[in-house]
Amino acid sequence: MTVIARQDRLIVALDVPTAAEARALAERLGDAVTFYKIGLELFTSGGYFELLQWLRVQGRHVFADLKLYDIPETVRRAVANLRGCGARFLTVHGDRAILEAAAREKGDMKVLAVTVLTSLGPADLQAMGYGGEVQDLVLARARYALDAGCDGVIASGLEAPVLKREFGDRLLIVTPGIRPVTGRPADDQKRTVDVAQAFANGADHIVVGRPVRDAADPRAAARAIQGTIASIFTA
Ligand code: C5P
Repeated sequence: MTVIARQDRLIVALDVPTAAEARALAERLGDAVTFYKIGLELFTSGGYFELLQWLRVQGRHVFADLKLYDIPETVRRAVANLRGCGARFLTVHGDRAILEAAAREKGDMKVLAVTVLTSLGPADLQAMGYGGEVQDLVLARARYALDAGCDGVIASGLEAPVLKREFGDRLLIVTPGIRPVTGRPADDQKRTVDVAQAFANGADHIVVGRPVRDAADPRAAARAIQGTIASIFTA
């Protein structure tokens, strides 16, 4: 099992409209953040791979949150194109065949399977035709992610304990839907936990977007989270 550096446990989502704004936010955050997630908003605004390279040159790790989803052969070819781009993590949705196709071409990247989006609650899942418990769906998806050769899963902090219990260190658990700041207005995230709870529940990394991006002082917000992490992972 690879040892995770303490400061790399926080992944900040650069959810901003342009690569220029992403760079500005990363510069503002400075050494408070070592790991960034760049997702669909930046992908569709242009300059995605230039930004990825720039972050790598700054010595930052990159999580390419592209949430690929298509027939296995198309996903396989898309992942092959991404191989060598410098991203450490890549997200893929899908069934076992899609995840297998992604895992086959991953090279140095770690493929993370999205289990159930943290913005979906039980009622949303029911409306989409999933009758059972969220936790059962997450577990089933994590099991075929592991079988397919994926390295980890994206899962809410609420499902992290059962995943840790079931799979131990065989699957990385990356947890978005972190709401560390009290008093924030409610948003679209439904299955949330705070920083300490996420790690207590078994998350290996947390992904934090708006609570850092929208803070009056983003660097101070990131540093506060790093402080909490340092108090948990003392070694
Ligand atoms: O702003 P917030 O902290 O909610 O940002 C969470 C980030 O994690 C967003 O970029 C979102 O796309 C991503 N994410 C998520 N739930 C998943 C997978 C990714 O919230 N299941």
